[in-house]
Amino acid sequence: MNHETMTVALGDRSYDIFFGREIYSLFQEWICRFYPGGTVHVVTDRNVASIYGDDIQRWLAGIPHDVLALPPGEEHKNFDTVREIYGFLARGDAGRDSLVVAFGGGVVGDLAGFAAATYLRGISCIQVPTTLLSQVDSSVGGKTGFNLPEGKNLVGAFHQPRAVFIDDAFLLTLDDRNLRAGLAEVVKCALAGDAELWDRLLAVGGKWKSLSGEEWRWVVRRAVRFKASVVERDEREASLRRILNLGHTIGHAMEKSGGYGRLLHGEAVAMGLAWEAILGMKLGVTGEELVDDLVTLLIGMGFPLDDPGAALTSIAAAIGMDKKRMVSDVDLPLVAAPGRCELRRVPLAEIRRELPGIRAEIRERSIARELNIPAGNAIPGESPVSNLVHVGDEVYEIRAVEENAAPAVPAEVGPGIGQERATAVEPESERAEHPAGPEPSPAPSEIPAAHAAVRTVTLADLYWSQGEHSTARRIVGEILRDDPANLRAQAWLAARAGYDLVEADLLGFLETMAKEYGYDLS
Ligand code: GLY
Repeated sequence: MNHETMTVALGDRSYDIFFGREIYSLFQEWICRFYPGGTVHVVTDRNVASIYGDDIQRWLAGIPHDVLALPPGEEHKNFDTVREIYGFLARGDAGRDSLVVAFGGGVVGDLAGFAAATYLRGISCIQVPTTLLSQVDSSVGGKTGFNLPEGKNLVGAFHQPRAVFIDDAFLLTLDDRNLRAGLAEVVKCALAGDAELWDRLLAVGGKWKSLSGEEWRWVVRRAVRFKASVVERDEREASLRRILNLGHTIGHAMEKSGGYGRLLHGEAVAMGLAWEAILGMKLGVTGEELVDDLVTLLIGMGFPLDDPGAALTSIAAAIGMDKKRMVSDVDLPLVAAPGRCELRRVPLAEIRRELPGIRAEIRERSIARELNIPAGNAIPGESPVSNLVHVGDEVYEIRAVEENAAPAVPAEVGPGIGQERATAVEPESERAEHPAGPEPSPAPSEIPAAHAAVRTVTLADLYWSQGEHSTARRIVGEILRDDPANLRAQAWLAARAGYDLVEADLLGFLETMAKEYGYDLS
């Protein structure tokens, strides 16, 4: 049986990670050598038990064991479930020399690991991660714990496993959604510390489903190697290990505010990575090109990035709640370059304040990427129907910027998102009213091509109707900056003057109340 071994060097808490396909006999050999004779307590969940029931039997063949199948999902990562594990261990006469086997995904690993860390003041645990996410992240590094209603992982312990068995055979039966979710943690590792892995991911992009077994093994090993190297240098997260929280500050808040179980952890992390990269750009740490690459990669992999499924206010309220105490700022990992991350102390209030702008940026990039406007798609004379796009009830026409009345964007301006030529969109109905093209395109020297794509009064209307007033105003403001005589933009602003007052009044009212009662409005 072919397998590879990687050691996590942590003094007397060092352990081996075994990689391979169908490595259950290695697992049996390991248990017989280190835990001969005793009963092994296997903790899994009902989903894993129903999919991998036969595997559990195969892995544990010949080893005295009992099995507990927990209710599945992040929504059960709570103290009730931990108590279930304590009861299981007590009924099974687990002693100080007993072994817990966490057989499943990240939630099972965290819960079983925590129960092992605390039962009888600590018994041994080994991890057999069955999801990509748990293979590349949670099974390695010894973080265990559970969620409170107030926040994710608020209770936990560092408890390193005695061994980790990473078998890529489990990935063969993993559904696409869970595989994709695991990829988010791989992308995180690449961004935070492995430029070669990043390049490989960019090359694979949306074709990840056709990765060969060998390629999966390479990707998993690279991610695990990076994680292990960080854990070796900072086991208890005094500083460096915080870079592994890349994407998690906003990601955790999305996971919590949407209700645990709605988004998979990896899906929230994917969104968090993109949103925090935009924040990094605003803070002058992350380059625009890297943000574009990341957004294109994640959307190509199939992650929706602009719909956290919760109001920004709830996300804002949840930010920072997974910290172990109330803090006013966080050491936020931000990507300086692929494979290079830096920690920047950022006030939580600033992250909250930036959320609407970040979402607007993500939406613009997602729309442009989703429209997937290929160069030359709007050549005059081609069937107009081929250039029509439906967004909600509206029909938009995609036109090359060159067709606009204002100065054309020359080819040398450079590629935009997805290396596409800059284009403009506007509703078909408006085009009929303004055949000459109502929105002049921006001057090429001022607007990068990636931003020239979607900036019309109609788009501002779309944002406005979705409640994103500041983004809508920004779009109209930019149109007027380029063309102060634009009548439609002027009329649009005039029509909303009343809203400005209402909003200003509301803000004034809130500020007065905050002062009065000492609330923090951030
Ligand atoms: N999942 C982040 C860490 O293990 O530190």
